[in-house]
Amino acid sequence: MQNSDKQQQKPVIANSSLFVEYLGIKALLSRHPEIRRLKRQQQGHSAHGNKVWRSSFVLMDYLTTYPPKASSKILDVGCGWGLTGIFLAKHYSAKVTGIDIDPSVETFLQLHASINKCSIVFQAKGFESFAKDDLSAYDEIIAADICFWDEMVDPLFDFIGLALEAGVRRILIADPGRPPFWSLCDKCVESHGANIVTRRIYEPWKTEKFVLIIENQ
Ligand SMILES: C[S@@+](CC[C@H](N)C(=O)[O-])C[C@H]1O[C@@H](n2cnc3c(N)ncnc32)[C@H](O)[C@@H]1O
Repeated sequence: MQNSDKQQQKPVIANSSLFVEYLGIKALLSRHPEIRRLKRQQQGHSAHGNKVWRSSFVLMDYLTTYPPKASSKILDVGCGWGLTGIFLAKHYSAKVTGIDIDPSVETFLQLHASINKCSIVFQAKGFESFAKDDLSAYDEIIAADICFWDEMVDPLFDFIGLALEAGVRRILIADPGRPPFWSLCDKCVESHGANIVTRRIYEPWKTEKFVLIIENQ
């Protein structure tokens, strides 16, 4: 991102109760009429991909300091509405694929890609179904709020190991700090020399989250 782009991104929040705007990305809140209309058309969501999650904004903020190379191929795991991937596609020309086990998130993801004037690819699949060869297509993997059940820790740890073997350069996972996330962090620090940082944002909400950083060594 150019310095001039960064300056243009501030002020960062729009004063609407229907959407937030941060780092040049607009996200509709659950009470927005278009979101309510889309939700009425659906049966419901299976695993929490049903709103804007704050960790995704903290991860965007982290990425402004430590961005991927321009035009990188990025896999957004458990993408939900896809906002962090949209951020990377818009500002860093990233080629983003968002995957989510819940196919119903796609409508919301495509709506946000459209209002933010960029495109990302969506695939309805779980991260557990990736083979090493599939993962070798990506330079980096990002995820936000994806390690929320104890049963997710081992499959995510295996997935991370596979991605590193496949040559993925960096894996970033943002989280509010739930116990399963810390279990995953412990395993990744021990096996992959991972680091964990805290990151605080003040807009569009004042919030502090954690980012697990795994670099391929
Ligand atoms: C708390 S939401 C976070 C969504 C998004 N990352 C964000 O920050 O806005 C967790 C997401 O992970 C997805 N998910 C859960 N288990 C998954 C799995 N095994 N593979 C892929 N996605 C999964 C859910 O469907 C949901 O969209």
